[in-house]
Amino acid sequence: MSRIVYVNGEYLPEEEARVSVFDRGFLFADGVYEVTSVLGGKLIDFDGHMKRLRRSLGELDMPAPEALDDLLEIHRELVARNGIEEGLIYLQVTRGAPADRDFAFPGADVKPTLVLFTQSKRGLADNPQAATGIKVISIEDIRWGRRDIKTVQLLPSSLGKMMAKKAGADDAWMVEDGQVTEGTSNNAYIVKGGKIITRQLGNEILHGITRAAVLRFAREAQMVVEERAFTIAEAHEADEAFITSASTFVLPVVSIDGQAVGTGKPGPVAARLREIYLDESRKAGV
Ligand code: PDD
Repeated sequence: MSRIVYVNGEYLPEEEARVSVFDRGFLFADGVYEVTSVLGGKLIDFDGHMKRLRRSLGELDMPAPEALDDLLEIHRELVARNGIEEGLIYLQVTRGAPADRDFAFPGADVKPTLVLFTQSKRGLADNPQAATGIKVISIEDIRWGRRDIKTVQLLPSSLGKMMAKKAGADDAWMVEDGQVTEGTSNNAYIVKGGKIITRQLGNEILHGITRAAVLRFAREAQMVVEERAFTIAEAHEADEAFITSASTFVLPVVSIDGQAVGTGKPGPVAARLREIYLDESRKAGV
C-alpha cells in the first residue's frame, strides 16, 4: 500500500513525491535527519529529537525549514494518515536545491528541503532480538570528526553494517584510537560489576536521545553510570553489553568478534533498562 509522505508543505502519495537532482542532500550529503519511534500511535522522545535537530541545523549554519514549529503536527498527521501503530518516522532537512552544483552554500533565496516519511514496523517493541541478543563485530571508525551532528553522510555506517552481515553478525561497533566510539546506528554500552559504562559525550559520537533517557532512568533506579571510553578487550571481560537507539530501544549484545560477552546470553541490566525505557516512554509519548 502506498504511503503518504510529506515534502515541503505537501502531503503526497509516495509515488508523486519529488526532490530536485540539484538538491544538496543528494549532491553533497548536505543534510541532517532524525528518526523518531512510534509506539501505540504516540511519538517517543519527540522533544529530544526536535531539540537535537535544531542543534544539528545550527552547527552546520543550515537554514531551518519554515515548518520547524509545525513538526509535531506534521509527525502526528503522518502517523494518522498512514495508520501507524508501531514504527518510525524519518525526517530530513537539506540545504535545498540551488540552480546548479556549487560547493559554496547557496544564498538565502534557496529554501531548505524538508521531507518526512513513516516506516510501519510491527514488533518494534516486541523485538525477538531482545530475548536472543545481537552479535557485533568491531571495525575501524572511518567517519568524519563531527559525529555529534546527525548528518546524512551514512556511507561508513552502511559499509560497517555490510561488513557485519558478511561476518554473520548483526552490527558493528566502531573503534578509534583503540576505543569504542559507538555502533553503526546506535550507542554502545558495557556492564561490569553492576556499573553501566558508555562513552562520554563529545564530537566523537552522536548524542543519542535514547542514551540520554536510558542513563536518566538508570540513575533514577540507583544504578551506577560511568561515562568514559572503553576498549574491545574490556568489553570482552564485561558481564553484559548492549546498544540503544530510537529504532532498537535497548538491545542486548551477546557476542563481540565471535567471543561471548558474559554468559553469552542477554543480561539482567539490559533487560531491566529495556523494560523501564519502554514503560516510561510509552507513558510520556505524545
Ligand atoms: N540512528 N549513534 C548513531 C551513529 C546513530 O545513527 C544513532 C541513531 C544513535 C542513537 O541515537 P538515538 O538514540 O537518538 O536514536 C547513535 C538512527 C536510529 C538511524 O540512523 O536510523
